[in-house]
Amino acid sequence: MKTTSLVAALLLSAAGTDAAIPAGVAKVAAREDGLAFSPPHYPSPWMNPEAPGWEDAYAKAKEFVSQLTLPEKVNLTTGVGWMSERCVGNAGSIPRLGMRGLCMQDGPLGLRLSDYNSAFPGGITAGASWSRKLWRQRGLLMGTEANEKGIDVLLGPASGPLGRAPTGGRNWEGFSVDPYMSGIALAETSVGIQEGGVVATAKHYVGNEQEHFRQSPEARGYGYNITDSISSNIDDKTLHELYVWPFADAVKAGVGAIMCSYQQVNNSYGCQNSKLINGILKEELGFQGFVMSDWQAQHAGAATAAAGLDMSMPGDTSFNSGLSFWGANLTLAVVNGTVPEWRVDDMAMRIMAAFFKVGRTVDSMPDINFSSWSRDTFGYVQMAAKENWEQINFGVDVVGDHGLHIREAAAKGSVLLKNSGSLPLKKPKFVAVIGEDAGGNPAGPNSCNDRGCDNGTLAIGWGSGTSQFPYLITPDQALQFQAHADGSRYESILNNNQWQATLQVISQPNVTAIVFANANAGEGYINVDGNEGDRKNLTLWKEGDDLIKNISSVCPNTIVVLHTVGPVILTEWYDNPNITAIVWAGLPGQESGNAIADILYGKTSPGRSPFTWGRTRESYGTDLLYEPNNGQGAPQQDFAEGVFIDYRHFDRKSPSTTGKAANDSNAPIYEFGFGLSWSTFEYTNLEIQTHTDTPYEPTSGETIAAPELGNFSTDLSEYTFPSNIRYIYQFIYPWLNTSSSGREASADPEYGQTAEQFLPPNANDGSPQPKSPASGAPGGNPQLWDVLYTVSATITNTGDATSDEIPQLYVSLGGDEPVRVLRGFERLESIAPGQSFIFTADITRRDLSNWDVASQNWVITKHEKKVYVGSSSRNLPLSAVLEI
Ligand code: NOJ
Repeated sequence: MKTTSLVAALLLSAAGTDAAIPAGVAKVAAREDGLAFSPPHYPSPWMNPEAPGWEDAYAKAKEFVSQLTLPEKVNLTTGVGWMSERCVGNAGSIPRLGMRGLCMQDGPLGLRLSDYNSAFPGGITAGASWSRKLWRQRGLLMGTEANEKGIDVLLGPASGPLGRAPTGGRNWEGFSVDPYMSGIALAETSVGIQEGGVVATAKHYVGNEQEHFRQSPEARGYGYNITDSISSNIDDKTLHELYVWPFADAVKAGVGAIMCSYQQVNNSYGCQNSKLINGILKEELGFQGFVMSDWQAQHAGAATAAAGLDMSMPGDTSFNSGLSFWGANLTLAVVNGTVPEWRVDDMAMRIMAAFFKVGRTVDSMPDINFSSWSRDTFGYVQMAAKENWEQINFGVDVVGDHGLHIREAAAKGSVLLKNSGSLPLKKPKFVAVIGEDAGGNPAGPNSCNDRGCDNGTLAIGWGSGTSQFPYLITPDQALQFQAHADGSRYESILNNNQWQATLQVISQPNVTAIVFANANAGEGYINVDGNEGDRKNLTLWKEGDDLIKNISSVCPNTIVVLHTVGPVILTEWYDNPNITAIVWAGLPGQESGNAIADILYGKTSPGRSPFTWGRTRESYGTDLLYEPNNGQGAPQQDFAEGVFIDYRHFDRKSPSTTGKAANDSNAPIYEFGFGLSWSTFEYTNLEIQTHTDTPYEPTSGETIAAPELGNFSTDLSEYTFPSNIRYIYQFIYPWLNTSSSGREASADPEYGQTAEQFLPPNANDGSPQPKSPASGAPGGNPQLWDVLYTVSATITNTGDATSDEIPQLYVSLGGDEPVRVLRGFERLESIAPGQSFIFTADITRRDLSNWDVASQNWVITKHEKKVYVGSSSRNLPLSAVLEI
């Protein structure tokens, strides 16, 4: 049995804590050494018993937590170690009250390391549907699957990375590069997951915009000699208006958990950055749930508790170390006064309140009926320690009819980028499908660990945000099936390098050549073809560009289908007239083939692009850091572009509201929000209704004092390892292995120590705290959601086909702000020829505000505010000035 040495834990506690600098600076604050600096925020806010939407959960949590001993509370907060139980993360249990340890399982597109579960479309494809209804449904079905497997906390959805640079390896796990759209998708998905009865986890909070250097040990594995993880240096305004924005929506919607991220923000680690967790998330945004560390993202003990971390995952300092920053060290830290009892009470309250909020009860926790670590029926429950051999997989099939949703969501999230008339297909005479991306992986769809390869059709990216496929319908299968039903001739060549055979097929008369190509990316621990998570370029993989160019140089009816994780550079071939259609099919999940067939044959309406398709990689104006730039210290990535990412950057270079400026080399090829439909639509009759505005009141007053729920003994002998429990190797426990702990290293004044010597000022202050002006309720000051205007426009189908249309509303905030930002959208379904729909969108105070770093509040500036309505970010036929 081992317990982390107290001295070591306290030394680690001191690492990385931030100290005082003046608040309200516009740019990134700097330290003495010139590096970016994160201002401190202490103490960590405790739960508010009256937070709207949490009252009932609070009461239930209070009743439960009040019964707990200190080690039992600690057990809720600390994972039992990597592979020490069935799930990817497992908290400790409370056997006395019949509570098994909470089960945390990935992830954002369905269940990872499981079986008989669905593989939903990736976030970016879900996003491209622009459908609140489908986002909610996707969340509900994922939540239902998790619940039926016995999972308590699903580790998704994601909106970090947001997609600062298109090469970011995990951009596809999220929904869109736009914070407004991403926030709505994050919130709808979270609500759906929680309606399914499990806690949703919005992640990764925040600034985890690249895989390179996100964790220094991983980076060292790739040969980069660095001692600390990368720092995303982000100013306060950009944090609020861009990267934190979606999380505010999820908090407002009641998300139960938030996962803090690996990398540093302004040189303070994501899971101990008091400004981000205490200051913005818990105080300003009023988050009432719990903050969970990403796996091995915790770098200190008491300092992380003080900075607002509530749950340590997977609980050990590094995988299988057998040591923990928390566990016994947290017990000891409370006993010796380093961490106040109210902080541990608050951690336990937040975890249990989230649990109760989604309808779970301790008495009816389902059994966990699968193991992440083996597909065998029998195996070890504690896989790391090889203990307790029993049945671990029960093969519980949770897919239901979810394939129907997946097919619909994948089709509606495909984007028709170009169509000069070849689509929709109508019983074509001869269909030739070309490209490896149309076929299966010869080794099977699940053959690569966490999908870390690019063999056959690409249906999801790689990493922890993936699922085991229950099946994968390939494009070749579905298109062949359709061709057969239509009486079309059909041939496929599922290889990119069979040029002679390909030429022989695609040079025949009457051929419709459908070329498939892909570009993949994923999480940093897997390197696929030199892509260490992040993409190393924006070109198609496996000579996909050459395949498209070669085929389209011969075949006058070449249709291109792209399965990509984000934008690729289409510049060299998109305007070739022989390319009669381009479809971005994103990451469709298990129903890939059926979904693309539904789009190519016009059975379903497509979506709109949730990112910009630029002409060159450089045209995005942002890129990742691929080489360390600070010696062996933390690489420094300055987010110097501020809020100008993706379309905000392109618009600044080349403003246009009348569609693409053909001769403008700064204009994108296909803009954010763009996508063709099966018809044409006219936008008329813009109307603006003004609502009575109650003046915006900054929140004031004080919180309650930190509640302490129960007493604890300071007698260390009460916390020693119980004699009636068998110690399991590497398992993390809340108990000490000795009662003669080194009190000299504690906060005992007898030894001249105080908590303040290793924790920042106010960290342990449990007295009532002032409320900040932008705070007030989950999501922030409730008046931010006051509706100031309602905008409406008439959308008429002027073509001859029924189709969905996705009107979008943008707002110009004036001054130095982006030319326009998205502030409304709706997917209007099945509009018949000649039919009109009225699109309406509410504009809230938040929608018109900018973050003012001086007053630390949202303000509507004096600059003119203008609204635009149209079908994409650059095709906006209607506009009007808002009378403020
Ligand atoms: C690390 C990933 O960053 C995170 O998204 C995931 O939930 C955890 N690993 C657990 O697998």
